[in-house]
Amino acid sequence: MSAIEVVPFAPALGAVIRGVDLSQPLSDAEFATIRQAFHDHGVIFFRDQHLSPEQHLAFARRWAPIDINRFFKAVPGHPEIAEVRKEPEQRSNIGGGWHTDHSYDAAPAMGSLLLAREVPPAGGDTLFANMAAAFEALSPGLQRTLEGLRAVHSSRHVFGEKTGYAAREDTGDRIGNRAAATQDVVHPVVIRHPDTGRRTLYVNQAFTLHFEGWTKAESEPLLRMLYEHASRPEFSCRFDWQEGSMAFWDNRATWHYALNDYHGHRRVMHRITVQGVPLAA
Ligand code: SIN
Repeated sequence: MSAIEVVPFAPALGAVIRGVDLSQPLSDAEFATIRQAFHDHGVIFFRDQHLSPEQHLAFARRWAPIDINRFFKAVPGHPEIAEVRKEPEQRSNIGGGWHTDHSYDAAPAMGSLLLAREVPPAGGDTLFANMAAAFEALSPGLQRTLEGLRAVHSSRHVFGEKTGYAAREDTGDRIGNRAAATQDVVHPVVIRHPDTGRRTLYVNQAFTLHFEGWTKAESEPLLRMLYEHASRPEFSCRFDWQEGSMAFWDNRATWHYALNDYHGHRRVMHRITVQGVPLAA
């Protein structure tokens, strides 16, 4: 019998997994409990996991092969681990707006495992939002309209030359490989979640450009309405980090937002993204 406990974290989404030491190999039964919690809650949280990079990678590989982010600078000596860092003198953070990782890819990353290495004395929390709940709260009429739409997502305006992070003077050392920011991909606006089958809103403010076949100007009012709707507090939760905390979120089911409220302090996180599949309506 597994001693793992799954404790709901907030009404909207999230669960804390207790009674597990991720530095040790997990039995199949333990892993199945954790996987079910991931699908049930969209994001799972762990405390006091002081993992080496190799242990972090080993846990990530239980889920899927690693999907290396081509824009983030890697942790020195560990090309598969992205460093999400902000120094005391820097003003910009990484991920400081609602988004879901890798939606600019044809097969977006299934999930991201973020491990806190160094946290500010206060602040630096991360918000998460439940995109299935947000979709289900829309009127049947709007749901039907959205189900007939697809949207274009891109990395160019976020990671490319002279835009996004490059346009902010103090993120230059943390984001690179700008010439690789060339992708535009199309995904359904409402996906059928590949594991749970739940219908989920799949647009996000960071990477979605416009609805397919619509201009940006035509798309903007409806996208803005969806972003305001989905970021309402009742669909979200807020996680406070301690050194050794880890979150594993489902990029197909959730958005996240790294709060940038800790100027003058250092925050260092290690992020591993794991491979997903092409998304279908
Ligand atoms: C990210 O957007 O992947 C980073 C989130 C965080 O640093 O809290």
